[in-house]
Amino acid sequence: MDETRQIDRALHDEHMHVAGLLRRLSDLLGRGDGALVAPDETALRLFAELRPVLDGALERHFRFEEDILFPRLDADGADDLTGLLREEHDVLLPQAARLRDVLAAAMAGGLDPQQVVSGRRLGLEFASLQIDHIEREEMALPPALESAIEDDEDRRIAMDYMAG
Ligand SMILES: [Fe+2]
Ligand SMILES: [Fe+2]
Repeated sequence: MDETRQIDRALHDEHMHVAGLLRRLSDLLGRGDGALVAPDETALRLFAELRPVLDGALERHFRFEEDILFPRLDADGADDLTGLLREEHDVLLPQAARLRDVLAAAMAGGLDPQQVVSGRRLGLEFASLQIDHIEREEMALPPALESAIEDDEDRRIAMDYMAG
């Protein structure tokens, strides 16, 4: 049973996409205020790539986990895990919405100095927490889902999710 299952694969692809973008954001903001004060080509490209994540894709991913996967994990006795992951979602989602607004304002050159400081802090904190959350799920979800969901249901759920 070493074959990767379909839900794991779908989650993993999205986790790696988001973690890659957030590592770039962390590097960029770690170098100083410049990216938010006067974003260059590199910063603008990254902010544009982050926009669909912060503006819906992350929420869709969380809803899938919370509405489709976690109830099955709860029924299988993994409610300690899902409780923690839900708490993390509840912190991350409002941060994502605020960061979306910060990056949109930065792209328009519209942040005042105080907003640059708070925006940089928000971006670094969100990147760190979201990457930690992804690493936790990458470790914990595959074995929990393997226990809770049969192979045929795994395929059906993943197909439904990817069909949107
Ligand atoms: Fe999650
Ligand atoms: Fe996830």
